[in-house]
Formats: sequence, structure tokens, C-alpha cells
Amino acid sequence: MSKTRQSTLLNDYHLLSYDQLDSTNAESRRLAGGGASHGAVFWAKRQSAGRGRMGREWVSSEGNLYVTVLISPTVALEKCPQLSFVAALAVAETLEGIVPEPEKVACKWPNDVLVGGKKIAGVLLEAFTTKEMGLEKQWIAVGVGINVDNFPEHVMFPATCLRAEGVELISAKIVLSRFIHHFIALYDLWAAKGFAPIEKAWLKRAHQLGKAVEVIVGDAQVHGVFEGIDASGCMLLRDKKKNISTINAGDVFYKEPA
Ligand code: BTN
Repeated sequence: MSKTRQSTLLNDYHLLSYDQLDSTNAESRRLAGGGASHGAVFWAKRQSAGRGRMGREWVSSEGNLYVTVLISPTVALEKCPQLSFVAALAVAETLEGIVPEPEKVACKWPNDVLVGGKKIAGVLLEAFTTKEMGLEKQWIAVGVGINVDNFPEHVMFPATCLRAEGVELISAKIVLSRFIHHFIALYDLWAAKGFAPIEKAWLKRAHQLGKAVEVIVGDAQVHGVFEGIDASGCMLLRDKKKNISTINAGDVFYKEPA
């Protein structure tokens, strides 16, 4: 693993950049409370062990964006899953300013961003603690992958990248800078006003809202109409008897023609 590190400031954030890491989330965990504090941004050009949701691999070849923002939360831990919506919304706003048809950008529950129905980005939140002078300190690694130059072919959901969407002249570093700009603004909004404005803006872009979906939760299949999200970021599904169930993790598949 090449750990050559450059330490600079990006939009006032402490930026730690690397040619290669195993995973930016893993590095943020190693440095939390030591070389890095709240708001540090970890950026790698490649990852050798990029992590996706549900223990999946995140293929991380050069050309795409791999970034983690290290957060020392000031709110109750139960509210921290909301950060994945803050990050997904920041990605959506970033992409809306880049792609030729911004209306094609959508947020897919729980943490994906799509362009034209294809996955272009994902968010992985990881919580951990460190001990400082006997005191436990809570951290959240907000990991974001955005396909800029390439995308994996053989994946569960169809994928895309900015280049395939007609955006040729953009680098991962420019996308990083724009993403951080949006993330800071939305993080500050979340810290000041809570989840409501984030939820509203996310729902405005929500893929499949009001549509019949199938959610795979472990070995089970759950069917219903996607009604929205709750304060923990759980998906609200309405069944035929109008009962609402709450799903906290799963893969969503679309059931109706678009
Ligand atoms: C998903 O499964 O959709 C989430 C993917 C998150 C990938 C990013 S890339 C930067 C950060 N480091 C990792 O190892 N994973 C996240």
C-alpha cells in the first residue's frame, strides 16, 4: 500500500491525499484523534480494498473519486445515520452542477445516487470509537465513491460514470472540491436545523418515491409502496392493507415500469 501522504487545506478542510490506500474509511479510522480530527478529508486516487455497503467490495481503480470525511458527532448517535443522507444529497447537488441533464440525477434509498436510473455513486457510513486519556470518543467515517471516469460492468445494479454521461473534461479532484463545498453547506444546515431540510431536499430527488418496490432484506423479500423515510433514515413501506413497515437496511428493486 502506498501511504505517501500530502496534507493541505481544501475549502478550509484538512485534506489528506494519497496515491493509494486500502480504504479511505479505514485510513480515517487509523488516524482519528491522532493525525486527524473532526472534518478531516481523506482522498485516495485508488483503493486496494474499497468497501461497499453490506460487506461488499467497492471496485476502486484510478480515475474515480474515493473520499472519506471524518466526523466527530455532536448529536446523539441515533441521529448519525442521517449523515448518509447529507452526503448523498451533497453528491446529488455536486452532480447536478456537472451533468448535461441535471433532472436525471436521483437519490436512491438508502445511500446511492443515480444518473438516468444507473448508479454513479454510493455512501458508506462507519461508526467507531477511540480512547483518549481513558475517555471514549465517537467517530463517524462518511465514505463516498463517485464514478468519474469508469464504472464496474458486472454488478447487481446497472452503473454509470460521468464520462459515460457525456462529461469528458473533469477530474476526480475537481469533483472532490465541489463535493466538499456542498457537503460543508449541507452539514452546517443539518447541524443548525436538523434533519427536516435534508429529508425534504432528499425526497425531492428520491427515486421510486410513491412507487411499488421490492426490498431484499437478508433472505426475505418485502413488497410495498415507498412512502418516504423516517428520522433514522429508515424506508417507510406501505402494504396492501395500508400498514406501514420500517426497513433499516436492504436492496431496493423497482416493480413498475418507469
Ligand atoms: C456502496 O456500497 O454503495 C457504498 C460505497 C462507498 C465507497 C466509498 S469509496 C470511499 C470510501 N472508502 C471505502 O472503502 N468505501 C467508501
